[in-house]
Amino acid sequence: MSKNIAVFVGSASKTSFNHAVVRHLQNIAPSDLQFNIVELGDLPVYDRDLDEQDVPAYNRVREAIKAADAILWVSPEHNGQVSAMLKNAIDVGSRPAGQSAWIGKKVGLVTVNARGSENVINQLRELANATYINMQVAPVAANVGGIFAGSINEQGEIVADEVKANLQNFINEFVAFVA
Ligand SMILES: Cc1cc2nc3c(=O)[nH]c(=O)nc-3n(C[C@H](O)[C@H](O)[C@H](O)COP(=O)(O)O)c2cc1C
Repeated sequence: MSKNIAVFVGSASKTSFNHAVVRHLQNIAPSDLQFNIVELGDLPVYDRDLDEQDVPAYNRVREAIKAADAILWVSPEHNGQVSAMLKNAIDVGSRPAGQSAWIGKKVGLVTVNARGSENVINQLRELANATYINMQVAPVAANVGGIFAGSINEQGEIVADEVKANLQNFINEFVAFVA
């Protein structure tokens, strides 16, 4: 049966390396894994007062989480941390109080950054385990580095064999995890 994977990417850049990796993952994934990229570029910064105002962008994000069979969180590293864009979406999805859409969902973690650092994966694991998020985390994460050293070309194609193998292993493990 087809699986709806809601994909949250912490970059809206037109030349985003994170989106390039998501496209590669969709290409190598089995056809019954359907990626649904959740638009985050227009998501207002989380403000709990807005929860009382029926904000369409908040509703759209929360509904996308609820409708998903599983989730992917994909983030660059910004100054050693998860990007604010993804963190904002995580906060939006965790509210209104008592109505978190994340709870119990399965999530796979991906970071695409310059140095290949583990910071973002570690932070995302912590976020996934937060009290009002409390997700099931895929044991194998993907960490793509070397993006300015030729691992991804200007067309956004993955060219480094090591990165391709890493992403193939990630998707194989993710498929097993969400089965
Ligand atoms: C504000 C900012 C801070 C960054 N900080 C880091 C960092 O701490 N470590 C790192 O490896 N890369 C860092 N980078 C590089 C990004 O990880 C890299 O540009 C990545 O491609 C961004 O993802 P995107 O192309 O999907 O937007 C930073 C980039 C920006 C814009």
